[in-house]
Amino acid sequence: MAANTNSEKYKSDGSLIGNLLEWVDARFPATSLWRTHLAEYYAPKNFNFWYFFGSLALLVLVLQVVTGIFLVMHYKPDGSLNANGIPVAFASVNYIMYDVPWGWLVRYMHSTGASAFFIVVYLHMFRGILYGSYRKPRELIWVFGVLVFLCLMAEAFMGYLLPWGQMSLWGAQVIINLFSAIPVIGDPLTIWIRGDFVIGDATLNRFFSFHVIAVPLVLIGLVVAHLLALHEVGSNNPDGVEIKERKNEKGIPLDGIPFHPYYTVKDIVGVVVFLMAFSAVIFFAPEGGGYFLEYNNFFQSDPLKTPPHIAPVWYFTPFYSMLRAMVWNFFWLDAKLWGVITMGAGVVILAFLPWLDRSPAKSIRYRGPIFKILLAIFVFAFLILGFLGTKAPGYYFFGYQPPEKGSSLLSILLSGDIIAQVFTAYYFLFFLTMPIWSKIDKCKPVPERVTWK
Ligand code: HEM
Repeated sequence: MAANTNSEKYKSDGSLIGNLLEWVDARFPATSLWRTHLAEYYAPKNFNFWYFFGSLALLVLVLQVVTGIFLVMHYKPDGSLNANGIPVAFASVNYIMYDVPWGWLVRYMHSTGASAFFIVVYLHMFRGILYGSYRKPRELIWVFGVLVFLCLMAEAFMGYLLPWGQMSLWGAQVIINLFSAIPVIGDPLTIWIRGDFVIGDATLNRFFSFHVIAVPLVLIGLVVAHLLALHEVGSNNPDGVEIKERKNEKGIPLDGIPFHPYYTVKDIVGVVVFLMAFSAVIFFAPEGGGYFLEYNNFFQSDPLKTPPHIAPVWYFTPFYSMLRAMVWNFFWLDAKLWGVITMGAGVVILAFLPWLDRSPAKSIRYRGPIFKILLAIFVFAFLILGFLGTKAPGYYFFGYQPPEKGSSLLSILLSGDIIAQVFTAYYFLFFLTMPIWSKIDKCKPVPERVTWK
């Protein structure tokens, strides 16, 4: 029988299952957990499709863990060559693809899952920016989110080394070598990270260990902290109105509805649409046109053959563009180190968003034109940075061929390298000048209650 208050325990109806539940509930906070986090967690009634992405991120996290477990049953983190001259790790991935029953499906679910994870998480973060979900009292939810994002990047980077293909090796080579730019400790540090003078078996083994256990543990812990912080303060909503400020006599927010069954059922719609799109990619375009799995990674790694163009997977490319945008040596530090600092700062600056934004309104619905325009340019800049990160340096838009000598205005305007520098500067200025423009922007009055039709 359902009880009324949080402290009340489950009372059996005399059935076998009822008795079992009563027994468990007397020893474990099952009912109270169920109530606090689902049946009596009051979420704003005006959630829209943007609110699907949190639960979808959870779904992809579970998918990655489950498919990962099955991959580990057959994968071998071994860089040595087998009797056919093929690295054992690379051969074990091919074995999964061709010989293990349904192995190809599990592998494609995991590799496409990595891209799906980032698509979902980028949209989830963007929702936070649209509705000011990082603002007081949700700063910690956001900060945990940024840490989750950092962990995800580390997880994806290390996972990409495991198939031991050409891009695995050379991608890791480029990124690990960046650490050598750090003065004094740079060179010993890169050797320490690789566990060898070159990327080899030692690197593969430690990346495997981090990818399958260390980082996922931290990631899951952070996701739990993220959700606990969310349930402590309650969800924001597309109006940016605090529903806890208006409650009925029972203490229930007037604009709140129980998460279960309303949003558990609504989220199923998001899950179905997501799984349809996800399946379409897995079954019809698992490499995602070379963006989800790069073509060069279908070749076994060869330390003696550098691929002509090394680009990270799409979800890293906006930050990779920021790294490459820094081409100047200044303040006694070389361009490579500035690139690393810029790339790192590109992620870390996100964590300061709650304190940079001074707008009186949270949601884009009531924010002024300055926010809308600057945010639109920000999204455009981020997408172009992402696109340019997939291209080799010296790229020109529309196939433009610059004249041999001198630099015409057109050469400047169409140069990918210059555009990346301008947009990198814009990316940082968007955040750094936010305390000023967010304050002077003309916001509309925020309603007292959520709007909902
Ligand atoms: C593994 C990755 C992640 C998972 C599983 C996850 C999960 C969730 C879930 C289930 C919710 C509640 C449902 C919703 O509001 O959509 C949520 C809310 C939220 N998440 Fe995440 N999240 C992840 C990553 C991130 C990241 C990277 C950020 C930001 C940097 C972030 C920021 C937020 C914020 C601000 C909220 C509150 C939204 C609101 O109340 O309007 N999350 N997250």
